[in-house]
Amino acid sequence: MSKLRLGVLASGRGSNLQAIIDNIAAGKLDAEAAVVISDKPNAFALERARNHGVPAVHIKPADYRGKEEYEKAVTDCLRENRAELVVLAGYMRIVGDVLLGEYPNRIMNIHPALLPSFPGAHGQRDAVEYGVRYSGCTVHFVDGGMDTGPIILQEVVPVLQEDDEDSLAARILKEEHKVYSRAIQLFAEGKLKVAGRKVIIS
Ligand code: GAR
Repeated sequence: MSKLRLGVLASGRGSNLQAIIDNIAAGKLDAEAAVVISDKPNAFALERARNHGVPAVHIKPADYRGKEEYEKAVTDCLRENRAELVVLAGYMRIVGDVLLGEYPNRIMNIHPALLPSFPGAHGQRDAVEYGVRYSGCTVHFVDGGMDTGPIILQEVVPVLQEDDEDSLAARILKEEHKVYSRAIQLFAEGKLKVAGRKVIIS
């Protein structure tokens, strides 16, 4: 059977991308990184992709007349590379209607908090500041909101009294690197079904 083709969107250092690539190489994830697309020219994620022979494409939002045109370019690139599942890995943009329309329930995101707590760009900092005892990470399907889509898997980590944003982020990141591949593997095996807000795992 042919492997699930992943189109990865990333804006930054790409450690989640790296974990996915490593898990594929280790035989823990039955998929293939088909293309990595970044909105940022210097995203280290692009370099990681190139190092592994994965097509790495920078698509610059400012080159397009608006979000719709930009997302059309992203969608064209995903289609050209025959991506079947879109994986957001530190992609710091809200996905719009064009991408959502092209990949309904086929876009996943990972967020460094236990959603619906602490959505947005500073999940770890917000958790430390709020004083919660536990936080973690969430893999979810993407809908039109910010970090609001149906939840696939979550992992919990303790928040220690002496934690700052960085120490908590590092503890969460270790879990991110495992749980994202597990969620993608479930998708690859056809085991995820979305029923309203819920994801049923068979
Ligand atoms: C990860 O912690 C990811 O959960 C987070 O950005 C980081 C990217 O790291 N995403 C968000 O905050 C999305 N709201 P990486 O580039 O090393 O994978």
